[in-house]
Order: sequence, then C-alpha cells, then structure tokens
Amino acid sequence: MNILGLSFYYHDGSAALIRDGVVVAAGEEERFSRRKHDPGYPEQAIAFCLKQGGITIDEVDYVVFYEKPFVKFERILLTAFSTFPWSLRLFRESMLAWLQRKLWVRSDIIGRLGIPKSKLLFADHHMSHAAAAFYCSPFDDAAILTMDGAGEWTTSMVAEGHGNKIDVRKEMRFPHSVGLLYSSFTAYCGFEVNEGEYKLMGMAPYGEPKYVDRIMKMIKVGDDGSLWMDMKYFAYHWSATQSYTKAFEEVMGQPGRDPALEDKSLDPFYCDVAMSIQKVTEDIILKMAQQACREAGVSRLCMAGGVALNSVANGKLVDGEVIKDLYIHPAAGDDGGAVGAALWAYHHLLDQPRQDAMPHAYLGSSYSDDEVEAFLKSENIPYTRYEDKEALFERASDDLIAGKVGGWFRGRFEWGPRALGNRSIIGDARKEEMKEIVNAKIKFREAFRPFAPSVLEERADEYFDLPGDPKTGEGRGPARYMLYVVPVHEGQRDAIPAITHVDGSGRLQTVQKEHNPDYHRLIERFAEKTGVPVILNTSFNLKGEPIVETPAQAFNTFSRSEMDVLYLENCVVEAEAKKIIDTTPFMLRPEGDRVAEMVS
Ligand SMILES: [Fe+2]
Repeated sequence: MNILGLSFYYHDGSAALIRDGVVVAAGEEERFSRRKHDPGYPEQAIAFCLKQGGITIDEVDYVVFYEKPFVKFERILLTAFSTFPWSLRLFRESMLAWLQRKLWVRSDIIGRLGIPKSKLLFADHHMSHAAAAFYCSPFDDAAILTMDGAGEWTTSMVAEGHGNKIDVRKEMRFPHSVGLLYSSFTAYCGFEVNEGEYKLMGMAPYGEPKYVDRIMKMIKVGDDGSLWMDMKYFAYHWSATQSYTKAFEEVMGQPGRDPALEDKSLDPFYCDVAMSIQKVTEDIILKMAQQACREAGVSRLCMAGGVALNSVANGKLVDGEVIKDLYIHPAAGDDGGAVGAALWAYHHLLDQPRQDAMPHAYLGSSYSDDEVEAFLKSENIPYTRYEDKEALFERASDDLIAGKVGGWFRGRFEWGPRALGNRSIIGDARKEEMKEIVNAKIKFREAFRPFAPSVLEERADEYFDLPGDPKTGEGRGPARYMLYVVPVHEGQRDAIPAITHVDGSGRLQTVQKEHNPDYHRLIERFAEKTGVPVILNTSFNLKGEPIVETPAQAFNTFSRSEMDVLYLENCVVEAEAKKIIDTTPFMLRPEGDRVAEMVS
C-alpha cells in the first residue's frame, strides 16, 4: 500500500512516500525550489517521492494532509475576534491568506494531483507529530510528547503509543505555547522568528540565567510542565508584527534588541536573557517529559514538534530512571508531519501492523557517479574520478589533515534540518582556526555559532559525556540525528576545539557503520591517521540558503565560498576549477513579517 503524506502552507512544505509502513522517500520542497523554508504546495517534493518509489500518482492508495485546515481557521477566527480591534491587521492579512489559499487545501490537492476525493485524508496536526515520533521509533510501547508553536488549537500533546495505536491523553491549547514563548524571546533578542531559535540557543552559553525570575512573572509552570502565559505580555495572538508587548519589555528591563544587530554583537544582557529562557524552557520540557512517562508507566519517550529540536534540552532528558530511552523524529518540525500523517493513516486508521519504518534519515534524492560525471563534463569542469572508494577516503582524510575544508556530497540527502554526512561541509575538528574559517569564509554566518562534530558511534564515549547506556545504546538514538548537545569530556576539549562550544559542549552526530558506511569509513580513515575519530560537520549551504540538492548546486556553492575541495560522489574537484555556472537560481526567502505566519 502506497501512502503519500503532505505538509504545506505554513513552513517547510514537504512530501513523504510510505510503502507498507516503511518510509521510501521524504523531502522538503525547499531543497528543490531553492526557496528557504518554502511553505508552498510541495510539487517538486511530490514528484521526487513518486519517482523514488517508482510509481505514478494513480498507484497511490491514500494522500494524507498533516492538519485540519478548517479547525485551524476556526482558531484564527476566534482568536482574532476575541482580540479585536488590536488584531485588525493580523486579521486582514491572515484572512487574505486563508480565503485565497489555505482554506482550499482539499480542492487544491485533489485538483493538482488528479485523485478522487475518497483518497484524501486529514490528520490532526499534533497527531501527525506524534505519529512521526512513535511509528518511526523502535518502541512497541512509549509515552509521546509533542510541542510546537501551534497546530490547530493544540500547542502540546501528551499521548501513549501501544503497538499500532496512539491514545491522546492531554493537550495544551493556544495561546499558551512553549514554542511561542521561546519564539517571543527569539524576537526579543533580535532574531527572526521560526529561523533564529537556533541562534538564541547558540547564544545562551555566553550568558547566565540571571532573568529567570523576570520571565516567571509573565508565565506560570505547573509541576507537570503545563504552561500558562499572561497574555498581556505577549502579542502574537493579535499582532502581525510583534510577538511581545511593551509590558513585556518593562518586565525584562530593556527594550527588544535591534534586529539589525543580528550578526554583529553579543550584548551580555541579551546573552543572559537567552540563557534564562533556555533554562525556563528546559524546565518545562523536562517536567512534561517526566510526567508523560510517569503517567504512561513507561520509561521510553517519543518526541516531535519544533520544540523537540532544542537539542540542549534534549541532552538533559535521559536520566536512566524516569526516562531511559528516547526517540526524536529527525524532521521534528512540520516537515516531519508529512511522514507522521501518512503513518497515522496506515497504522491508526487502517490498522496495519508496525514495521521498521525509518531506520535512518537518508531519504532524499541521490546522483550516481555517471550523472555527476556527465554534469562535470557538460560544464567543462576538470575533475579526478576515483574508481576505488578507499582511495577517495585516503585522499579526503589527507585533505582534512592538511587543513582543507571540503564539500562532501554523497548518497541520498537527509530528511530534516540537519546534514548528517551526505550533504555536509567537513573539516578537521582538531584545528581551532576551523571555527573562524568556516563561519567567516565559507558559511558567512554569525561568529558565535558553534559547529557540530561527527564521531564514530563506537568511539563517542571517549570524547563525549553521552546520556544513556553505552552497552545497550538505550537513550542514545537522538545523537544519530544530531539532536543532543552534550558535554565534551574536559580532558578532550583541547583535542577537538573546532567543535567545542564556549561552554564545553558539542552537538554531536554519532555515525553508524550500518547506515552510512562511506561517511563512517571516511572518519575511520581520519582516525587511523590522527587518533581522533571526530570531524567537523556543517550543512552544505551558505547562510540563508537551503542545503544543496544537485551536483550543480553543490558546485556553485563550492565556487561561491572559500572551500578548498569538492567531493561529488567519487569525483573530486579542486579549488582552481571554481566558476559560477548557470543553474537553478538561488532564491532567498523574501524578507518580511514572520510573526503573521507564525500564528496563521
Ligand atoms: Fe507543528
């Protein structure tokens, strides 16, 4: 049975194809359209999924959309009415979007795909998150926690998964939302909502949690992690341009940070604010997670929703008692809703048995050596093709040791926001200067942002203080998807300075031989020569652009940066070959108000 899952019209439009309960293909539209966080109908992602699955749309049994548009519309209407007249602008803008596009999702999908009405299903937004988390996990029984900005009405859900069924236990409802609380502070600290949350998290270690008490004047947190927000301090439910109010600024003691400063300064006050909201958020997540497990009577937890991308909080959840094992869907945001919606229909609705649905995240498109070679020849780009993979790893590991930064393009692209060694920029983690080189000359991004390490899974304990059980691997799954920030052992921080953040932590990816043998072998070869099984891994893109999808995009990104070498499958291109070629134009996301989209 083929089921196509879709999520779009909010952010990160995506498609996923599930065959007999196994994820065959999944990808975000932005990779194909080259528009960062492309929220539109995922036409190209759908085409890719069908091609990867070797089927046409007529062979798809069901198409499942990841939320219920009419219920969401009801929330927006009622919220706008209850906050009138302040909500006038938000109301006008969201009505335009809804009446012109969003309400017509049903006829839109049916019309575009040419499918009969009976094949189209709708899942609840948070059920899509829960299903992505539970059905892709290795657990038969687990507690499930979802947290994001807002779905239809729900902002957080606690559920239980048993076999092929999910039972909802509790929900938290709009406007009280962990995601929107964090986003409000993202905006207050001068970053873009829905984009800058990682920056806020990266900035936090430069500060102290001095302002927790000020934040707690605006919210209440129950022992079970339930959150109540005093809405006089927040504006996202009625404003198209503001997440927070003047009263919020008065409580915090300073006006919001100028967004124009985004890349340029680390003001100690806002660093302290970042650390304070991080601590508050961690406290909420930990309480919710523990309560979910206690109430379900299990010690295994599944998580999804945008808040589950808070890898600093994630690294603190597994305590070996209340929570022993944890699964987080790698595309924890709304992109993952495409996989979740399809799996929900297959298991919960159609009562089909569980499978090993998603053992890894390499679910995107790929290009063969011959395709790469045809591209390089067509553009007259000189290259060396390595017939023997081992010779390529030999060459690449020597390059790393020589201080070169390389573009590593190999196999299928990764599902979710993280590059996990198939669309990555790689460097030597032992070299302190790599941080500066990659931030300034290659990614063109904020100097304070850390880089992630890729480490051989079997040697991760030598360098990192990982939660969970080293013998059984319990509690360690999220590290495979770069979803844990954990301490680097104190004695090893000087050994891998390029990936050690200012507070001595690292957002590691443990690389398994089973699921990515080539990337594993590259790091292993590097370790054989240096003794260190860790390399620097950052996504293959420049600031503000989606991760590369095709060899041509990889080549252009390589040419526009100061990368030293490009590895396209088994073909290697040197820096001398750089030039800009005519390919899909790199379209940046249009500037504009993100708050309106955040709640609409
Ligand atoms: Fe969501």
